[in-house]
Amino acid sequence: MPYHSLTLTVSDRVATITVNRPEKLNALDDATITELGAAADEVRARADIGGIVLTGAGRAFVAGADISELAGQSPLAARERALRGQEIFRRFETSPKPVVAAVNGFALGGGCELAMACHMRVASEGAKFGQPEVKLGIAPGYGGTQRLPRLVGRGRALQLLLTGETIDAQEAFRIGLVNRVVPAEQLLDAARAMVGQILRNGPLAVALTIDAVDRGLDLSLGEGLAVEAGHFGLLAATADMGEGMRAFLEKRAPAFRGA
Ligand code: COA
Repeated sequence: MPYHSLTLTVSDRVATITVNRPEKLNALDDATITELGAAADEVRARADIGGIVLTGAGRAFVAGADISELAGQSPLAARERALRGQEIFRRFETSPKPVVAAVNGFALGGGCELAMACHMRVASEGAKFGQPEVKLGIAPGYGGTQRLPRLVGRGRALQLLLTGETIDAQEAFRIGLVNRVVPAEQLLDAARAMVGQILRNGPLAVALTIDAVDRGLDLSLGEGLAVEAGHFGLLAATADMGEGMRAFLEKRAPAFRGA
């Protein structure tokens, strides 16, 4: 579909989705959220795409939900907006294809939440992270109160959520919010390389690993282990498992087919 607030390009099986409202620091208005949902569906459906890099145009990754739209919202509309955004972010989080956020600048509020809904995060040295909602008299609505403590622990999450302070990329790395920090000019290559490294592995194995981690975080250890064992069994039915093991024994690179 044609997009207005984002671009979608594909190279070497890696899609790059770029939120593209640089004049508003890529703030997420409802139309942009809708397009993100459509882009998540498109990359999931397209066979020529194996993984995704999500980034922002200009000096921001995403500077939050669009405050001009939030300003007049009624309580019910606010709740609907949160639920809708959460559902769309969840499409990236549950994508069977790996999603890496390339955080090129401000990742504030909904921007930090969008990055956290990705499977991994690479940040440029100048990137900034924060959940400043409380400064506006609101609380996060796109998953910040739930994903941040899961990523960095309750104490550090509450510090960011309650002070609204902004941290730099090194601090985000130190607390485990981002996986890697690189110079700005290397950001997209580093994020694409991370996806590319994953794409050399069995796609069904990758998809079921994402699924096991995602489900397991909501389960007891015993229930999570049962999910893992089920996936392990399922993969034993795939041609890719045979190929992966044969390739190892024959000392060659595997040629996975996703079957
Ligand atoms: N919603 C709507 N518009 C936003 C926005 C947001 N979340 N973040 C930035 N913008 C707009 C600004 O209003 C400005 O638009 P204008 O030129 O039409 O006035 C433009 O983007 C540039 O932002 P500006 O504030 O002038 O840049 P800056 O370098 O001085 O400051 C920030 C950058 C990120 C510190 C600042 O824009 C900011 O605090 N943004 C809001 C962050 C936030 O609270 N996010 C959570 C929202 S729930």
